[in-house]
Amino acid sequence: MSGDGGAMSWLAPYYPWLKTLHILSVIAWMAGMLYLPRLFVYHAGSEAGSPTSETFKTMERRLYRAIMVPAMLATWLFGIGLAFTGIVVWTAFWLYAKLLLVAAMTWLHTVFGRWQRAFAADTRPHGAGFYRAINEVPTLLLIGIVILAVVKPF
Ligand code: HEM
Repeated sequence: MSGDGGAMSWLAPYYPWLKTLHILSVIAWMAGMLYLPRLFVYHAGSEAGSPTSETFKTMERRLYRAIMVPAMLATWLFGIGLAFTGIVVWTAFWLYAKLLLVAAMTWLHTVFGRWQRAFAADTRPHGAGFYRAINEVPTLLLIGIVILAVVKPF
């Protein structure tokens, strides 16, 4: 631990557990961020009001509300906890670059929530091709965030 001792360095002994819980939350959140747009691809191709569309509505609502929202909140909670254990060198740029990409991921999460509610109201905001392209965005953000978090290049 090479940080500045941290405002809440009483958290320092919990660093390994905070990082474990942080990474587990990240895995759950990213599973949803990669899967939900895939559901939108197929949902966009189904007829509004059809049994298939109703099944997709249930899957999307449960994935978003029961997995993605709690996992995102837990990722932030344990990430902020980690940031205050005294390990982070606040002059190092990697955390700020990472938080910029995490802010983009969090914004995208809220956009997915808006689309989930639109599908639930039987509207089709975009076509299947649009969601197939959007599906790549969380993947690219994830790659950038993990490189910054592990390699800490600057
Ligand atoms: C939500 C806000 C987030 C905050 C405040 C945050 C903060 C942190 C901090 C302070 C560490 C400890 C770094 C170290 O041990 O040197 C860390 C580790 C890590 N974070 Fe985050 N993080 C956040 C979100 C994310 C997201 C969204 C991902 C992946 C998509 C992620 C992936 C990781 C990984 C893989 C590590 C372990 C790095 C290592 O062991 O070297 N974090 N995070």
